Amino acid sequence: MSPAHSSDMPSYSIASIPADGIGPEVIDAGITVLKALADTLETFRLDFTHYDWSSDTYKKTGEYIPDGGLDRLKKHDAILFGAVGSPDVPDHISLWGLRLAICQPLQQYANVRPTKVFRGTQSPLRNCAVGDLDWVIIRENSEGEYAGQGGRSHQGRPWEVSTEVAIFSRHAIERIMRFAFETAQQRPRKLLTVVTKSNAQRNGLVLWDEVAKAVAQDFPDVTVDKMLVDAMTTRMVLKPESLDTIVATNLHGDILSDLAAALAGSIGIAPTSNLDPTRQNPSMFEPIHGSAFDITGLGIANPVGTFWTVVEMLNWLGEKDAASKLLECVENVCEQGVLTRDLGGNATTKEVTEAVVAEIRKLGVK
Ligand code: NAI
Ligand code: MG
Repeated sequence: MSPAHSSDMPSYSIASIPADGIGPEVIDAGITVLKALADTLETFRLDFTHYDWSSDTYKKTGEYIPDGGLDRLKKHDAILFGAVGSPDVPDHISLWGLRLAICQPLQQYANVRPTKVFRGTQSPLRNCAVGDLDWVIIRENSEGEYAGQGGRSHQGRPWEVSTEVAIFSRHAIERIMRFAFETAQQRPRKLLTVVTKSNAQRNGLVLWDEVAKAVAQDFPDVTVDKMLVDAMTTRMVLKPESLDTIVATNLHGDILSDLAAALAGSIGIAPTSNLDPTRQNPSMFEPIHGSAFDITGLGIANPVGTFWTVVEMLNWLGEKDAASKLLECVENVCEQGVLTRDLGGNATTKEVTEAVVAEIRKLGVK
């Protein structure tokens, strides 16, 4: 046995929940590259447990997560998630039944969405070169506009009313702001943009701004500015190089991060981490995209978003060297022009995956 196989090699238990649509296709690709990486580097071990929780399970059993399911999840070091959403289940049932049913009880309050233009790919913005768009969006992931508070009365009647109450607590704002400032502090430019809408939303988002300002006092080395969300969309398009780390509410962060992914080339490349920064619960990692019904089963889904997702997962688990090597392999493959259709190429999911595995194998050649 080589020393690399010694029993003190760290080993991580990963829960995989591929779920719906292209989820299983991209998670399969992600696990293939992770296995190749662990195999080649021989510095850590991964052990996968597969959960078949999906819209199909829901249609059969009436539940996305079986009894005791969350307790089983809590035993893992991390969760790798595909996408949830099926044409024959209303989206609010599937999202709340599976993804939010994990994020909320496991207190994954920080949603982290990095975006950049990879070498070998192109932004749809005419003048945006590699390096001009390199952002991390931090989205509040536990309350705000997606707190789930509200109700409907007089359903189906002409006088029906519904409420969707946004919740902003000092506690949750403060913890996401601290996380955002710490993230900005660790990046070379130390720039944080706080996205708000405190002109129109004069309660919750005024508190949001006040807490941001107070937390900023503890981070004098971070340059901070404030943007109204509507003006933020134009700045992302017209001056991408002026932004670095961005913090936004649940709804604003959701929308801006899809825009960010598209500006970087495709929604098929961007990752998401749902983190419990206290590390009391496992964090969950997923590509930013959804089930993509229009391309499900065609074998052409871009697996790069999932590859970057597993890079983020390795980083969170402390395997920073393996993470940066894998990201480099993925960028090399993009640079070689092995791209799926959404990035202007014609490679299949399998071809991109095989090209990344081939790059990984080169790491093993001493
Ligand atoms: P979507 O992200 O599934 O698809 C939007 C467009 O992007 C489609 O044209 C799709 O083909 C394309 N696309 C997405 N991922 C791609 C990839 N990896 N490679 C190539 N092209 C890709 O968003 P949509 O259509 O709004 O939602 C579809 C379903 O997914 C809905 O049920 C929705 O609720 C669900 N959804 C789930 C999410 C999650 O599980 N986190 C996130 C977003 C949507
Ligand atoms: Mg979204």
